[in-house]
Amino acid sequence: MIVITVKGYLRSSGMFIPLLGKWEQRKSGMEDCVVRMEGICKYFGEKVALEHASIELHEGEVLGLVGDNGAGKSTLLKILAGVFPKDSGDIFIKGRKVRINSPRQSRSLGIEMVYQDMSLCGSLNAWENIYLGRYHTHPLRRSLLPILDKRSMARKALQSLRNLGIDLTDINGPVRNLSGGQQQAVAICRCQLFRPGVILLDEPTASMGMAEREKVLDMILDLKDQGSSIIMVTHNLQELFQVADRALVVKEGRSIWCGPLEGMEPENLAQMMFVGRA
Ligand SMILES: Nc1ncnc2c1ncn2[C@@H]1O[C@H](COP(=O)(O)OP(=O)(O)OP(=O)(O)O)[C@@H](O)[C@H]1O
Ligand SMILES: [Mg+2]
Repeated sequence: MIVITVKGYLRSSGMFIPLLGKWEQRKSGMEDCVVRMEGICKYFGEKVALEHASIELHEGEVLGLVGDNGAGKSTLLKILAGVFPKDSGDIFIKGRKVRINSPRQSRSLGIEMVYQDMSLCGSLNAWENIYLGRYHTHPLRRSLLPILDKRSMARKALQSLRNLGIDLTDINGPVRNLSGGQQQAVAICRCQLFRPGVILLDEPTASMGMAEREKVLDMILDLKDQGSSIIMVTHNLQELFQVADRALVVKEGRSIWCGPLEGMEPENLAQMMFVGRA
């Protein structure tokens, strides 16, 4: 939104002509929204997963998505990631109404998701997982035949893992041998490599020890510093208050509260999650 200030008025032939001063671009609430989902409904047969759920993700924030088991958190993110089609409702990216019918379409809009189960291929190594489906190739000498550029992918993968504070001793070993935190770093690296504007993290620290959890939370804050807007599902209110700017509470498929966490007590949020009011 462009705002122009009026310095004064010039009177000419009985008319008042405004004298325009400085102009500036101001963000209105809507322009500030990177993602807006409105009235989203999703049914799995008879089962109601989402009923007129809505979400607003602001530019450069970490939005915590919380709610009881089965509340619809993963379903909401999967609709945004193009995994499930919605039954009704609208999705806007930077104010523009979009259709998301596949993960590819979601990616092309700058959205990447790390799934609850991380969806890594256990028998593949870290760089193979990071570049899976998007392998780098170079032409074989004196021919146009493309071959995998393994060395470059391994080097870049190692570097981006290091940037996230993870040092793998064996970049070529299968990821099933890595710890939970290291696997989560590989999954985050895979989505971060393509510099997405929006990152969706579904329980990124589930079943992790304290030290690994802290590392993953640091990674999330790094991603935010690098300019990504993030939605993070979590059951852990302590970590929510550590990294999130705002929270959205979902209950039985509906968005029941959304607001900043500053000045809020975890107990109030827990009450909203389980009782439905503060
Ligand atoms: N593929 C599916 N087929 C059938 N029902 C599903 C499917 N995915 C989710 N559901 C149902 O939709 C509802 C919402 O599930 P969802 O996974 O979104 O919840 P959640 O808030 O992520 O829960 P959790 O905290 O346990 O991960 C649940 O009742 C679940 O059983
Ligand atoms: Mg879930």
